[in-house]
Amino acid sequence: MLWFPIDRDSDVLLVQQVYKQIRSLILTEQLGEHEKLPSTRELADSIGVSRNTVTEAYDQLILEGYVFVKPRSGTYVASGVVLKANEMEKREEHLTKWLETEQQDDEIIDFRASHPAMDHFPRKVWGRIAKEVCYDSHDDLFGYRSPLGDETLRRVLTTYLTRTRGVSCHPEQIVITAGATQGLSLITQLLMDEGDCVAVEDPVTDEMRTIFVKAGAEVEPIKADRNGIQPNELPTKRKPSFVFVIPSHQFPLGAILPIQRRIQLVEYVREMDSYIVEDDYDSEFTYEGTAVYSMQGLDPERVIYVGTFSKILSPALRIGYVILPKHLIDRFKELKWFSDRHTATLEQQVMARFIEEGHLDQHVRRMKRIYEKRRRALVAALGRTFQTLEIIGQAAGMHAVVEWEDLVVDESFVNHCKENGVIVYPVEYYALKKGHHKKQMVLGYGSLTEEEIDEGVRRLQKAVESYQPKN
Ligand SMILES: Cc1ncc(COP(=O)(O)O)c(C=O)c1O
Repeated sequence: MLWFPIDRDSDVLLVQQVYKQIRSLILTEQLGEHEKLPSTRELADSIGVSRNTVTEAYDQLILEGYVFVKPRSGTYVASGVVLKANEMEKREEHLTKWLETEQQDDEIIDFRASHPAMDHFPRKVWGRIAKEVCYDSHDDLFGYRSPLGDETLRRVLTTYLTRTRGVSCHPEQIVITAGATQGLSLITQLLMDEGDCVAVEDPVTDEMRTIFVKAGAEVEPIKADRNGIQPNELPTKRKPSFVFVIPSHQFPLGAILPIQRRIQLVEYVREMDSYIVEDDYDSEFTYEGTAVYSMQGLDPERVIYVGTFSKILSPALRIGYVILPKHLIDRFKELKWFSDRHTATLEQQVMARFIEEGHLDQHVRRMKRIYEKRRRALVAALGRTFQTLEIIGQAAGMHAVVEWEDLVVDESFVNHCKENGVIVYPVEYYALKKGHHKKQMVLGYGSLTEEEIDEGVRRLQKAVESYQPKN
């Protein structure tokens, strides 16, 4: 007999609750095609509502085509109501589920990478500037503007990035985008035709790789080691539309790409008449040595630079930027215009003033101190708890990689960790060629306090000690 819970304290009408529950059972295929639903009387008795309520819910489902009535027989699930996921999506869904955060569970400690400390957003200063911008700005600012983005922000950014990242560009070469994500998506449209190949470091961030795959790219994995991408592994017979790299802090391995390899990469794209797409998403946070300058400064004609304020300030702002060689600007500008006209002007103006008044430098210095403390807390906790691991890739960014001597970080181990209240991320998940990173896991610490990091490592210890691999 069909049964599901009804919430009498909920604001959702009973009819809606019944309708939604049955629809969800159909969409998740727990009620299959042509399966008979119970009679309205039976279901009403089973879930404790009036028969009218069930009849109304059934009528709604009939109206929308989810179920149909066979005269003198009953109500049945219709066919063709579930959109089947294709194999690729199913695989991705499986992987995503494997790593899914139980967001409703506040108690769990999630070592998710690339999440900044949201509790440190400079609300007061940002709010003050936002108010000023709103009151002070000329009426023109409230209309459509250039797809390149706000002129003041591009000018201010040019100065900032020249000083901090060694980029070499004119403000006209910067396009403000809705985060690095939109930047990469537009670059892919700009440089790639369906079926072309894109060379990416392997392992690679799944988010960024998916952008290329969805655009129809064939992704060519190029092995990365502890120093980052290995340029001598790049294809010589087939020209990639571009080579995607994160040279300042490879994700997930955390490598800082040495200058020799940077030069090799630039020589490669010159030779192949291709481009490097440099994602510089969390380079401000370097703890050992000084920050390594961007690759864009090495060859502004061959390197397209992608930056973002998502890590340094907040992903909610949705402000990123792309620096392009001059000859690509017009086409990129057109793509941006037909994508979303331009990024929100007022926010860009706020950002420009925020940088001009020196708040960004101040914020970066402050956050660097906070992340450095969190990093130390993680390294110290791991060091005093485990003897059989090595920590790599922790010189920059907001995550580190742990390599175990004898532990395979697979689905079963990750699930066992979850049962112990801690979420860790296997490097193998990000690998295109499987099998090389089985003993490595990513631990992001950006959004965890020192106490949470300590507690997370304690739970990890419990998980490791009680774990019994299946084979
Ligand atoms: C490698 C990498 N680059 C950039 C970003 C930032 O993307 P966005 O600027 O769209 O928030 C992320 C997000 O997690 C990332 O993993």
